[in-house]
Amino acid sequence: MPTVIAVTSEKGGVGKSTLAVHLTAAFAGRGLNAALIDEDGRVGSSRRWAQRAEQVGQPLPFPVYEPDDVKPRKLADLDVLVIDTEGRPKRRDQRALAGRADLILVPSGPSPLELEATLDLVDYLHEHGSGRGACRVVLTRVPAVGQGGEAAREDLRDGGVTVCNTLIRQYAAYTRAAEQGGLVRDLPDPRAQAAWGDVLALSRELQ
Ligand SMILES: Nc1ncnc2c1ncn2[C@@H]1O[C@H](COP(=O)(O)OP(=O)(O)O)[C@@H](O)[C@H]1O
Ligand SMILES: [Mg+2]
Repeated sequence: MPTVIAVTSEKGGVGKSTLAVHLTAAFAGRGLNAALIDEDGRVGSSRRWAQRAEQVGQPLPFPVYEPDDVKPRKLADLDVLVIDTEGRPKRRDQRALAGRADLILVPSGPSPLELEATLDLVDYLHEHGSGRGACRVVLTRVPAVGQGGEAAREDLRDGGVTVCNTLIRQYAAYTRAAEQGGLVRDLPDPRAQAAWGDVLALSRELQ
């Protein structure tokens, strides 16, 4: 069975779908058999992303499933399965997710308010998480200039939170990629390549 990584957060708009799509692409690009389940389905979700990619004739390099069309047979051969969740899921759903996933990946912006919301969720998952799901924060939309990301990472670690070493920096290329249904990997811009380097590094840290 695949390693199951669920991407979830306390708040919407933190970059879950952007990260889920790119992370799955990074796993696939490294030769792993990877797939994504989109449990959101609304505007801006991974499924819509994949549809746009197909429309422009450049399909994503991995399948994106809706929860209803996931058959165990499809999943058995996978190395890694990423789950993209809706913004602001109910606590109950998050607890259920923790039971299904090997890893709960919680993207968070580095600002104090975002970190506060993230800590709330991490505390909740630690208290109520059903054992199987380990929980790790990944800092995202980190300003490419300055040390704010590093500082936030060390603060979280001092507080006993498990944080990914890799910082996903903030680049406009992600928004451009989303609009086109593409990946930053395929944008001819040095900053897009720097963004892709972050995602690759994160993928290596996780699997
Ligand atoms: N690392 C990043 N750098 C710049 N913009 C980002 C980054 N990650 C996400 N975004 C942008 O933030 C917005 C919300 O991202 P999205 O992935 O849809 O969040 P969520 O799935 O958590 O609601 C989108 O406009 C997206 O392009
Ligand atoms: Mg989303």
